[in-house]
Amino acid sequence: MSSRLPGFYRLPLPARRARVAELAGLGPDDWQVIEHGGIDAQVADHMIENVIGTYALPFAVALNFTIDGADALVPMSVEEPSVVAAASNAARMARAGGGFTTKASPPVVIGQIQLTRVDDPDLGAAAILDAKPRLLEEARALVPRLCARGGGPVDLTARVLARGGPDGGVIAVHLHVDCRDAMGANLVNGLCEDTADRIATIAKGTVGLRILSNLTDGRTITVTARVPDEALKADDAPGIDVRKAIAAASRFAELDPYRACTHNKGIMNGVDAVLVATGQDWRAVEAGAHAFAAHTGTYKPLATWREEEGSLHGTLHMPLAVGTVGGALHAHPGARLGLHLAGVKTAARLAAIAGAAGLATNLAALRALATDGIQRGHMALHARVVARAAGATGELVDTIARELAASGEVKAEAARVILARLTGEPA
Ligand code: MEV
Repeated sequence: MSSRLPGFYRLPLPARRARVAELAGLGPDDWQVIEHGGIDAQVADHMIENVIGTYALPFAVALNFTIDGADALVPMSVEEPSVVAAASNAARMARAGGGFTTKASPPVVIGQIQLTRVDDPDLGAAAILDAKPRLLEEARALVPRLCARGGGPVDLTARVLARGGPDGGVIAVHLHVDCRDAMGANLVNGLCEDTADRIATIAKGTVGLRILSNLTDGRTITVTARVPDEALKADDAPGIDVRKAIAAASRFAELDPYRACTHNKGIMNGVDAVLVATGQDWRAVEAGAHAFAAHTGTYKPLATWREEEGSLHGTLHMPLAVGTVGGALHAHPGARLGLHLAGVKTAARLAAIAGAAGLATNLAALRALATDGIQRGHMALHARVVARAAGATGELVDTIARELAASGEVKAEAARVILARLTGEPA
């Protein structure tokens, strides 16, 4: 399966569906499920409270992605124009250098048990560590099926947070759980609740909160890409200049949290769009990403770009806790379709795809900012929307969009006038 589909964006929607259906082995019924947003009000009514309807987003595929040697259609749901085009363009650039390469850490998520009023927190923490083999064995016995699949509790750590004050001696106990293909929230929360009393007794303290940490720094994805100068070049800038400008833009983000925040927003454009299209808890990933970015005490970019001889090398490293089993997925046919389109069988592959999408949207943003500025690309896309709305079809859409963008007046009236001139029909 090749994800390289030249001219795909120019096809009318039914033809795009037919092309994707052919590639992903879908039948007509598979489109039915997302025709009106993937779920109907009855299903929605069972998902959350006080439901009064459903709320849909565009569902698209980003193209040109090759990730760890395998092509993938990348499902994306997002309201912002140009994110899908940006991801596809950048994926084509990365493809010229062999595509994206990823490495997922083991899927270990931390569950936190807060202990307060611990008599002697240092002794309490030491007692917990002494009992660690036994506690881990007991915790593993609570999740035999997960352990049989190669997951389960793998470590237990304890940190003294306070030796006195309003809560007395406070210890944060971390239960490290390999969640395999689950995102792990329910699993880890349940384990924390079921083990907390035993741990509090050993530490001679009182149980406080029992909940996973969304700072999943033990469950990360690393994505790298090498982009040859030739693929970076712009109409009016040679590749080497674009490469240098992107490396400088990366250094700007490394030096300044104000820029790092926007840089990371550009990464999350890609990551979140994939997470939404595949039914993931994107707020959890967002929270983890930004906490991770600030881990050193200074907010840092999640991806950086360095120059090499004749190419640019990008590296993204961030927590990415996703799941292909459990969660809201079962209830949402749109999410199931997203996973199917992406050919995703494991959480690690989904994290690889979301991470690659993030590095791609980051590259596209930096390239646009370092060359034309972001508005020109946005304007070109907006011009296509305006040309279509004015009644243009087929090749006329691009012709009119180009003329609109060049004139700087991207307005419906101007589009109608150009259309009338080109077709000879009255505006
Ligand atoms: C807009 O959604 C994202 C950008 O601001 C990202 C960036 O500045 O790197 C263009």
